[in-house]
Amino acid sequence: MARIPQQLIDEIREKANIVDVVGQYVQLKKAGKNYSGLCPFHNEKTPSFSVAEDKQFYHCFGCGRGGNVFGFLQEIEGISFPEAVAKVADLENIPLAQEYREASTEAVVNTQQRQLIALHEKAQEVYHHMLVNTAVGEQALAYLHERGLSDELISDFGIGFAPNQRQFLEQVFQNEGFDRQLYPESGLFVVRDDASVADRFYQRIMFPIRNPQGKTIGFSGRFFATAAFPGEDQPKYLNSPETELFNKRMILFNFDKARNPIRKENTVFLFEGFMDVIAAWQAGVKNGIASMGTSLTQQQISAVERLADTMVICYDGDNAGIEATQRAIGLVTENSPMKVAIIRIPDGLDPDEYVQKFGSEAFAQLAQHGRETIFSFQLDYYRRKFNLANENDQLAYVETVLKELTKVDSLIQQDHYLTQLANEFHLQRETLQQQLRSLKQAKKTTRVATRQTPTTADYAYDAPPPMEFEGDSYAGLSQANAPQTPRRPLTQGERAEQQLLFRLFGEPRLLYRLQEAELVFLHEDYQEIYRLFTEFYESRGAFEVAAFLDFLEDQEIKNKVINIATLTMPEESTEQEIRALLRVLYKTRLADEINEKVIRQQEAGRVGNTQRELELAVEIINLRKQLKQTDIF
Ligand code: CTP
Ligand code: MN
Repeated sequence: MARIPQQLIDEIREKANIVDVVGQYVQLKKAGKNYSGLCPFHNEKTPSFSVAEDKQFYHCFGCGRGGNVFGFLQEIEGISFPEAVAKVADLENIPLAQEYREASTEAVVNTQQRQLIALHEKAQEVYHHMLVNTAVGEQALAYLHERGLSDELISDFGIGFAPNQRQFLEQVFQNEGFDRQLYPESGLFVVRDDASVADRFYQRIMFPIRNPQGKTIGFSGRFFATAAFPGEDQPKYLNSPETELFNKRMILFNFDKARNPIRKENTVFLFEGFMDVIAAWQAGVKNGIASMGTSLTQQQISAVERLADTMVICYDGDNAGIEATQRAIGLVTENSPMKVAIIRIPDGLDPDEYVQKFGSEAFAQLAQHGRETIFSFQLDYYRRKFNLANENDQLAYVETVLKELTKVDSLIQQDHYLTQLANEFHLQRETLQQQLRSLKQAKKTTRVATRQTPTTADYAYDAPPPMEFEGDSYAGLSQANAPQTPRRPLTQGERAEQQLLFRLFGEPRLLYRLQEAELVFLHEDYQEIYRLFTEFYESRGAFEVAAFLDFLEDQEIKNKVINIATLTMPEESTEQEIRALLRVLYKTRLADEINEKVIRQQEAGRVGNTQRELELAVEIINLRKQLKQTDIF
């Protein structure tokens, strides 16, 4: 359980070559004194990932990730720091004593926790054996097959069966020689008044719930009714109780398996039930997770947000699911930089029922192409809350959705929806635009007054707290001007916007390079900063951030500028870097535009406007072609 001495850590890092380690995961090509390749942390077709052999670190201009050899392994393998150190030691054949390894395999896990995990792993093993190899589990296995679960899937997820006996697990554990004192805390038993114990789970199909390291730490058991045991009074699902290992506010079903797919797709699917996760997995959607019978928590969001830019909420299509979707949207947008998309399952079905009814292929299509924007979802969500035949309600509705529209900061989307609302309710587009502007102004004023700083407790789960703002490292700024919010992880597109502006501030002559590329930003605020920068620089012929701040009026904009000015980037820009950043913006914009058109196409389909649907299809195909082209800029 010993900590690895700093000296040994340094020695391991110095002996290792980051190029060799990264080279095992990424095909690297020598480019000047650095190596470059396709970033393993986000999807890309042209390399923006670079490894500096002399400085022994990696950096991706596309998604902004970077670090040393240990950080790389932590990120790509999802392991802890001591585990990464041990791994490098092994790769480089540097001896590392066992005492450090023990510490390194499960650094935060104490002896009691390790024993509890051993109990769960054993239970998982025997339940699984009962299901797949014995007559007792035969009927349950047939039921799972009927639900479309393959043998491979049943074994991948370690699904099992707890027979109808209250001393089954107790017997197994006794033979294993486990310490009985652990039984109550394990949650696998109920303790009776006379201190005797009985199995908590019986006559249930057992779904193991694993921690992020893939170890079983709890179960959800689905009651399996038979003629001999109809069990009308039994709850459908019975979950492990809260234990030292099993914290429902933190656990995400399937997080261990989904981690890499989430990262690869840069997208995480959030489902309501774990059967939905399993059905989606079988349909090829492997980046799905679910909370365990509770609503989504801040800790769960923190655990996934650094892996992906986009969260797709894919809850049940019934009323409860729609309300839960609206709540989840609020939670994610207020606490995370992730973009949110919504999939509404038709006919009130849940994803699993959809797969059973329409097949895996149909579900995969829906997961890929059935995404809605938050705002499009809310247009319908609020429609259900108002009676639009009534004129007063119409106005109240427009007012409500305009408030939501202030949260949309994509210029493309705002424009589209304003037109749509104006058309539907026969209102002047200008009037709506004006109203939107004043709502935004009002929001800014209240936001400054009520801004909250997240506490470290909000980041307790498997994710480091976001970097603190390095306000005082920037000379010439009073603390009063410095933004008080900590720096949150950004989306790939927004990061590129900031990095381009950072470059402009440091090398203003780049403006001509960017003008030539006809740069347009993705977000209003950055486009505004770019416009103001151009105005400032063109009128004065020189640029300094401190002087620029005096020139700016809006406090939000000032804060953004300060944030950008304090970014950390390599000293000087290179043409390769600028091109990579422009490419990110260009592609994000195209992708946004495609999403937008896909939604409009689906709308046209719903109202039976075949002509428009076809036109849009052609436009989408062309945009997709452009997106695939690699050699732009
Ligand atoms: N749940 C629970 N306790 C219950 C019912 C549900 O904890 N008594 C949780 C489970 O985590 C489940 C989720 O809520 O995954 C969704 O419940 P439900 O929609 O009823 O389950 P389905 O996924 O539809 O299950 P099935 O298709 O097997 O009926
Ligand atoms: Mn279901």
